[in-house]
Amino acid sequence: MGLKSLEISGFRNLQQVKLVANEDLNLIIGSNAAGKTSLLESIFYLSYGRSFRNSQIKDLISYDHDFFRLITDLDTQGSRIGIERSLKDQTIRINRQAVTRTSALATLLPVLVLHPDSHQLITAGPDNRRQYMDWGVFHVEHNFINSWKMYKKALNQRNASLRLRQSDKLCEMWNKELVQHALIIENLRNEYLKQIRVIVNNLSVELFPGHIINLEHKRGWPEELTFSDNLSRNLIKDREKGFTQSGPHRADIKITVDGKSAQTSISRGQQKKLVSLLKIAQLTLFSELSEQKCILLYDDLPAELDKLNQNKIMNIISGLNIQLFITAISDDLVDYKTWKSYKVFHVEHGNVTEQVNKS
Ligand SMILES: Nc1ncnc2c1ncn2[C@@H]1O[C@H](COP(=O)(O)OP(=O)(O)O)[C@@H](O)[C@H]1O
Ligand SMILES: [Mg+2]
Repeated sequence: MGLKSLEISGFRNLQQVKLVANEDLNLIIGSNAAGKTSLLESIFYLSYGRSFRNSQIKDLISYDHDFFRLITDLDTQGSRIGIERSLKDQTIRINRQAVTRTSALATLLPVLVLHPDSHQLITAGPDNRRQYMDWGVFHVEHNFINSWKMYKKALNQRNASLRLRQSDKLCEMWNKELVQHALIIENLRNEYLKQIRVIVNNLSVELFPGHIINLEHKRGWPEELTFSDNLSRNLIKDREKGFTQSGPHRADIKITVDGKSAQTSISRGQQKKLVSLLKIAQLTLFSELSEQKCILLYDDLPAELDKLNQNKIMNIISGLNIQLFITAISDDLVDYKTWKSYKVFHVEHGNVTEQVNKS
C-alpha cells in the first residue's frame, strides 16, 4: 500500500512537518542532528506503535510539547492512520475510528527498518531474532497473532501457578493449551524460515559470493523431546525459578556463515551487510506473497555500507515492489536517479522541504 502523505507535529525536533511522499523512493537529506532519523522514526511509530531506538515516550515528544501527533494517508484506498500520544495517553485512529490494538497498524502499514544499530539482530539477544521471524509470520499467516496471544495467556497462567507454588496438578493444567499453541507457532516459524532460507541463498550469490549463510530455527526446547514431555520433565526446575523456562517464547535463530556463528566469525561491516540481506529477504518474500507495498526505512545507508555493496543493495531493492525512505547527509552519496520515480527532501533544524527538480 505505502504511504501517500505524512503529517507530524511535536515529534522530537519535528515541530510541524507536512509532506507528500513518492510511491517509490524518498531520499531525505540533511546535516547531522537535522531530524532525518526522527522522520524515519515517526513512520516506524505509525506501524509499530513504538520507536526503533531505545527510547521512552518522553524522549519522543518534543521538549516544549505535551504530546505528538502523527497522521498518514495511505494510497488510493483512502485509509488514514492517526496517532496522538502524550505521556499518559495514546489514541490510535484508523479511518477516524479509535482502535486499541497496535497490530492493526502493522496490518495497514507494513514497515521494516535498517539503521546503524541493526547489526544487533545478529549480536544481541534472541528477542531480536524472534521479532524478525514473527514480523514475517504475522504478515503471512493471519492465524499467528491469535495463537501467539493464546499461548502467552496460558504461559502467564502457568507462571502464576508456579510462582504461587500451587500443586503439580494446577501447574500442569495449562500444559495442554500451551502445547497446542506452541506447535502451531513452531510450524509457522519453521515454514517461514524455510521460505526465507531459499531467498537468502539467492541473495548471497550477489552479496556474500562464495559463502554459505544458514538460518536454523531453535524452537525453544530440545530437539529430542516433545514440548509436552519437556514441560513435564522441567516442572521441578520451573518451580525453582518461578517461570516456564522453555517454549516458543524462548525460540531463537542460529545464524551461521560457512558453518560458523555470525555473531563471532564475521566483522561488524559484514554483520551490517548480512542484516541488510536478511531484511531484503523478508521484503522479497513479502512482495511475492502480498499485494500490499512494504515500506523500507534505510537510515544513513552511505555510512553503513561501502559503495560497492550499497550499489548492489540499491540495485536489488529497486526491483522489488516497495516504498523506500533513505537518509543521507548528501545526495551525491546515493545512486537514486535510476529509480522509476523519486523525490528528494531536505531536512534542516526539524523543517522538511521537498526539492523542486529543475529541468
Ligand atoms: N524530544 C525531543 N525534542 C526536541 N528535540 C529532540 C528531541 N529528541 C531529540 N531531539 C533532537 O533532535 C535532533 C534531530 O535528531 P536526529 O533525528 O537523530 O537527527 P539526524 O538523524 O538528522 O542526525 C537532535 O538535535 C536531537 O538532539
Ligand atoms: Mg540520524
